[in-house]
Amino acid sequence: MQKLTLTRPDDWHLHLRDGAALKAVLPHTVRQFARAIVMPNLKPPVRSFADAVAYRDRIMAAIPSGKHFEPLMTLYLTDNTSPEEIIAAKASQFVKAVKYYPAGATTNSEFGVTDIRRCDRVFETMEELEMPLLLHGEVTDRDVDVFDREKVFIKQQLIPLKLRFPKLRVVLEHITTSDAVNFVLANNNIAATITPQHLLFNRNMLFKGGIRPHFYCLPILKREKHRQALLQAATSGNPKFFLGTDSAPHSRDSKESSCGCAGCFSALHAIELYAEAFESVDALDKLEAFASFYGPDFYQLPRNTEQITLIKKTWRIPNELPFIESGIVPLGAGNEITWQMA
Ligand code: NCD
Ligand code: ZN
Repeated sequence: MQKLTLTRPDDWHLHLRDGAALKAVLPHTVRQFARAIVMPNLKPPVRSFADAVAYRDRIMAAIPSGKHFEPLMTLYLTDNTSPEEIIAAKASQFVKAVKYYPAGATTNSEFGVTDIRRCDRVFETMEELEMPLLLHGEVTDRDVDVFDREKVFIKQQLIPLKLRFPKLRVVLEHITTSDAVNFVLANNNIAATITPQHLLFNRNMLFKGGIRPHFYCLPILKREKHRQALLQAATSGNPKFFLGTDSAPHSRDSKESSCGCAGCFSALHAIELYAEAFESVDALDKLEAFASFYGPDFYQLPRNTEQITLIKKTWRIPNELPFIESGIVPLGAGNEITWQMA
């Protein structure tokens, strides 16, 4: 195949940051995607409906002139989030979901939830209002191996949560294991997003010839058998699995450090990376629904009507792009890629 025409996709899990970083990364996303679910882990986080409205205004102001893009806002759940905040958020129409970060699990999660049961009153309201709950599905227990944190989360937290709130609409975000795939397949009212890095790479990539901080994200890359399970799920045509890049920009300095930040930056070339992954298992015919249909269907939003075109053409992913004080290294920098968005 030499040319691929798709309904314009949306990104159902994206970090846009704020200020100068927002201005630097947003044009990349706007070029590829019509809408994105915008993560609330700013410093301080987007905790209230008022915070979300103000952040949305800053994003709208950063959209390059003449371009169209719709940010879909989320609230950052804390131990103190009230059901009233959820009601106000739902009424606003701007807020499409609520994000759960376990305290200490990942970048900017220090305000996260210390015990998921503390949020049961909020979950009750969300279940009633059909407000989706987006889960960073990892435990933070220091005794749990970093490669097992998703699997243990499912067992210790997610299974009981689904029993307490069977109708709560849940997205298990950026899944990385066959355990997560199987859980999503076996349960109702739960879907999952899958990132390009988890479809393309396994954990060997973190240590290929030396330590490679630009492949470090959370949840961390897993074994090849898990990558295979994710690729199978993404290309299966099952509407429970859809696109969410988790593009998480950090400057080169903050990644190439004695304690480097977690996050891969893929906004530059996300749809091309997914095309590579789908082509690797001869499933390009499944890409459009994964990228452009199943996400809006889950969020009960209309599908996009515009189209984009990808051309079969080899190009090299740049080593660095302008960002803030230091540059940013895109996912797979320096590698060749064989699809290019026209
Ligand atoms: C994200 C970030 O940098 O905000 N990092 C990451 O590794 N994915 C946070 C997150 O989604 O866990
Ligand atoms: Zn994320």
